[in-house]
Amino acid sequence: MDEVVVGITGASGIIYGIALLRILKDLRIKTHLIISKNAEKVITLEAPIPKVEMEELATEIHDPQDYSSPLASGSCISTKKIGLIIVPCSMKTLAAIAHGYSDNLLTRVADVFIKEKKPIILVPRETPFSGIHLENMLKLANYNITILPPIHAFYTKPKTIDDLVNQFAGKILISFGISNDFHQQWNDDFLNDFDHI
Ligand SMILES: Cc1cc2nc3c(=O)[nH]c(=O)nc-3n(C[C@H](O)[C@H](O)[C@H](O)COP(=O)(O)O)c2cc1C
Repeated sequence: MDEVVVGITGASGIIYGIALLRILKDLRIKTHLIISKNAEKVITLEAPIPKVEMEELATEIHDPQDYSSPLASGSCISTKKIGLIIVPCSMKTLAAIAHGYSDNLLTRVADVFIKEKKPIILVPRETPFSGIHLENMLKLANYNITILPPIHAFYTKPKTIDDLVNQFAGKILISFGISNDFHQQWNDDFLNDFDHI
């Protein structure tokens, strides 16, 4: 994967998007950041850094209302090794993508990536999921979109929230075939830790 579009929407869990951007920057992978208008409020309420610092982590920033962005054009992305990760993904953005409703650049990019058969990962954030949410996720899974809710591995013995968040960000990237130091695969060391039981 040469380039990754990172979409951040107005769901709780902005910290996952920040962790992902940091890892991609360290790996020197080109990123395009789209922060939805509604995400701005959630960023001010829960993110550890302001929007402007999040934008500094990305290679390119895209206005969420700019439909003239090259990312919104199938002919511009069709030959690229590029993928889309929406993290966190609100139920509103999930619904828009499931119904081909391109009401901003991010949902338009998802629409274009589906038709151009480019890989997409959505990190949905809501609990409990309603039947509508689950139907939308099933529909998208049937179009080869990876639905990757932030569910954590505890056998790795995370000590801090950062441990949990970074491990999950690492797992997202592994789903794109991007190796990184944060994803911890199951191995015998974890079993050895249980010797005392
Ligand atoms: C503090 C806060 C937290 C929110 N958390 C969620 C959430 O976890 N999941 C969700 O689907 N919507 C959540 N919302 C509602 C979305 O922001 C709202 O549905 C919005 O329309 C999403 O738009 P967007 O997908 O274009 O960013 C939250 C809103 C606020 C203000």
